[in-house]
Amino acid sequence: MEAAREAGTGRPANGAAPDFLAHWVVKTARRDEMIAWYREVFGARVVHRDRQVTFLSWDHEHHRLALIAVPRVLRYLFPLARLRRKVLGIDHLAVQFASLERLLTTHERLAGAGIHPVWAINHGPTTSLYYEDPDGIRLEFQVDNFPTVEATAAHFAGEQFAANPIGVEFDPAYLLDRLRRGDDPTELLRPGAGTRPGTTPRSGRRAITWRTL
Ligand SMILES: [Fe+2]
Repeated sequence: MEAAREAGTGRPANGAAPDFLAHWVVKTARRDEMIAWYREVFGARVVHRDRQVTFLSWDHEHHRLALIAVPRVLRYLFPLARLRRKVLGIDHLAVQFASLERLLTTHERLAGAGIHPVWAINHGPTTSLYYEDPDGIRLEFQVDNFPTVEATAAHFAGEQFAANPIGVEFDPAYLLDRLRRGDDPTELLRPGAGTRPGTTPRSGRRAITWRTL
C-alpha cells in the first residue's frame, strides 16, 4: 500500500523519468484572489513576492505554484480560457489525499468557507472531488480506491471499468456522515457508496455535463 501511496515521491526505477512533479506556473490577471484561494484551500504560504512573480508552497517544496502577474484587463479573457480548458489542452491537475477521511473533511472545511467542488465522482479507481481556482484551473482532489498500483491496474483491465470508465457521482456530505457513523472505510470507496438514500446519482456518460466537462 505504501509503495502506491509513495509512488510520486520515490525515485523511479525508470532512469529516464524525472523524480517528481515540482511545480506549475500560471499567468494570472487576478493574483490576489489566487493567493487567497490557495491559502484557504492548501494552507499555502507566500515564499517570494515581487512586482511580477509570486511563489507559493504548501509542503516541503520551495515552491509548488508560481503566479506571473499580467495586466488585470486580461481577466476579461477568462471565459475564453475556461472554454479552452473544456475542449483542448490540459484539463486538470490531480493531487492525492492519503485517506477518504482527509478528502471528506477537506470538503467539509472548504464548504464552510464557501468553496464547493464542481464535480464529485467516484471514478472506480479513485474517489475524486474537482475544484476550480479563481482562474478556472481545475484540480482533482483524489483518494485511491484500491490499496495497490497492481489492484488499480487490474481494475483498469476489468469489465466494470470497461462498462463505466467515468464513474458514479456521490454526495460528499453523505459519505462523511457514513464515515462518522462508523461504516467500513473500504466499503465507502465503492462506486455508489456515496448515494444518499432517495436520490439517483448521475453515472457514466450522463455524468458529463457542461458544468463537469
Ligand atoms: Fe484525473
